[in-house]
Amino acid sequence: MSTSTKLRIAVIGAGNVGTTLGKRFSDAGHTVVYGVRSAADAKYEGLTVAGIRDAAASADVVLLTTPWAAAQDALQAAGDLAGKVLIDATNPIGPGMVLTHGTTDSGAEQVARWAPSARVVKAFNSVGREVMANPSFDAQRSVLWLCGDDQAACDTVAGLATDIGFEPLRVGPLARARFVEPAALVWITATAALATREFSWGLLRR
Ligand SMILES: NC(=O)c1ccc[n+]([C@@H]2O[C@H](COP(=O)([O-])OP(=O)(O)OC[C@H]3O[C@@H](n4cnc5c(N)ncnc54)[C@H](OP(=O)(O)O)[C@@H]3O)[C@@H](O)[C@H]2O)c1
Repeated sequence: MSTSTKLRIAVIGAGNVGTTLGKRFSDAGHTVVYGVRSAADAKYEGLTVAGIRDAAASADVVLLTTPWAAAQDALQAAGDLAGKVLIDATNPIGPGMVLTHGTTDSGAEQVARWAPSARVVKAFNSVGREVMANPSFDAQRSVLWLCGDDQAACDTVAGLATDIGFEPLRVGPLARARFVEPAALVWITATAALATREFSWGLLRR
């Protein structure tokens, strides 16, 4: 179900994923502010930017889209996220395409430890930015796996995913990120096998 509530979304990290999702959410009627380290930088021309703390302070939803190595710093810069939905779109990938958190822990759970008062939902990590820009494949929509411990926060994120054309698929509590994060590596690996980034995962049912 799409969300009828228009949300204030702070996107931390105005890079590939941040600007792609930011534009989609903005086009869907939500208010988007990018939280960046140097708001005066000319490279942000055309985007609504603010310092990370200011952007997060006025947001209902904070979307984390930094490299994994910067996630802790970025969350520290964001300050207290009490009660806010925090979407973790990062992938905890270190040098050599190795996951820094495996199947007994996850980046999302680490994010929740770094931001203990936030309502963390793992989402938007498992497909490339090209799919985020357009999740439609003829009559089908790309599936978007998401998980989190706070059901209302998951509802909000599922609504946002629906708003921009995904078919959200909830896979349980935040600890399921232990499986959702490695799945991103399957997508990344498949880009080489398929020689394209214009593909995604669909859901077959019967
Ligand atoms: N690319 C994809 O298709 C894709 C898909 C799914 C998930 N992901 C995941 O999404 C995350 C972002 O990927 P991306 O491709 O968007 O990366 P990117 O283009 O390099 O963008 C990263 C952004 O993070 C910002 N940043 C870096 N360090 C920061 C810090 N300490 N505090 C605040 N902001 C900081 C950068 O800002 P500056 O300009 O100031 O350096 C940049 O705008 C990664 O964790 C990646 O694994 C990527």
